[in-house]
Amino acid sequence: MADVHNNRRILLASRPEGEATTANFKLVETPLAPLNDGEVRVRNHYLSLDPYMRGRMSDAKSYADPQPLNEVMIGGTVGEVTESRNPSFKVGDKVVGVGGWQEYSTSDGTDLRVVDAARVPLSAYLGAVGMPGVTAWFGLNRIIEAKAGETIAVSAASGAVGSVVGQLAKAAGCRAIGIAGGAEKCRYVVETLGFDACVDYKAGKLRDDLKAAAPEGIDGYFENVGGDVLDAVLEQMNAHGRIALCGMISGYDGQPVPIKTPTIFLRQRLKLQGFIVTEHMDVWPQALKELGERVASGKLLFRESIAEGLEAAPEAFLGMLRGKNFGKQLVKLI
Ligand SMILES: NC(=O)c1ccc[n+]([C@@H]2O[C@H](COP(=O)([O-])OP(=O)(O)OC[C@H]3O[C@@H](n4cnc5c(N)ncnc54)[C@H](OP(=O)(O)O)[C@@H]3O)[C@@H](O)[C@H]2O)c1
Repeated sequence: MADVHNNRRILLASRPEGEATTANFKLVETPLAPLNDGEVRVRNHYLSLDPYMRGRMSDAKSYADPQPLNEVMIGGTVGEVTESRNPSFKVGDKVVGVGGWQEYSTSDGTDLRVVDAARVPLSAYLGAVGMPGVTAWFGLNRIIEAKAGETIAVSAASGAVGSVVGQLAKAAGCRAIGIAGGAEKCRYVVETLGFDACVDYKAGKLRDDLKAAAPEGIDGYFENVGGDVLDAVLEQMNAHGRIALCGMISGYDGQPVPIKTPTIFLRQRLKLQGFIVTEHMDVWPQALKELGERVASGKLLFRESIAEGLEAAPEAFLGMLRGKNFGKQLVKLI
């Protein structure tokens, strides 16, 4: 572990060609510079590993600039203020921010928000009560506009975003259908999270199982993966269905993920809308308040996969892209 004078950090060493590998990352140890006026030092406790990071590793045209080479990998963090020359933060404050893949981060405070770790566990501010939770909230409420009695499906249903989508849909009086990889994840989605059904897309009968899970068709779909899963769901969409296109993780290593029958959009008069949650900062306060209340009162459950130590981050990140995580993927840094 780094002492107070040194900081261990993981940099992007090279851009992936095809699948990302651990060789794309480099662990370095650098001394911490003294704080300037206005700056805050945070000892990061948890690092969030998120699929969007795979996009930033590439320099293909996207909604955000690529992660620069030889700089610390971007990443959401929660931690504790250990030193402050900024009047808005005091030593001991628990904060959520974008500290990156490193043990200590130094900030001017603009990316930091003080959080209450007594009400909700600190790590949840990177998951159900953080960016993934707001993503679920936005797609469900603002794009799908789920109404009581409708059937809502979500892929990557046991994951950070998907698990919140289904629970919020249930709370809104909808029928919630999950799609996840493997029997264990599906069991969790139904038995613990309370979805009405879950389809294991790896079991080899995706279309039949989807039909059985949603006998009245699907009104709203929250898409996280793309590819064959999207094609199969499209076949079950009801007229005037809405699709929130949140992610297409099956294509993040550069594989093409074509939609096989776009005529369904016309036939069923579907709406499909892509979105990036950080472009909708206006909803964050309302969504975070609601999500925080639900987690604090035990109405919104979450699960975490926690890798130990900064050096475990690259493997854990690559594993998450392949579904090895079960719930929100984090790295515990202290
Ligand atoms: N638009 C936005 O603003 C925004 C914000 C946050 C997240 N997202 C997107 O939301 C999605 C979920 O993110 P998350 O953070 O909640 O991650 P997550 O669901 O916790 O983890 C990723 C999951 O994706 C699934 N997966 C991986 N490869 C797959 C494949 N080839 N086919 C089907 N499923 C596959 C795996 O679940 P299984 O084992 O079930 O396959 C894996 O556990 C991602 O697509 C991400 O990019 C978008």
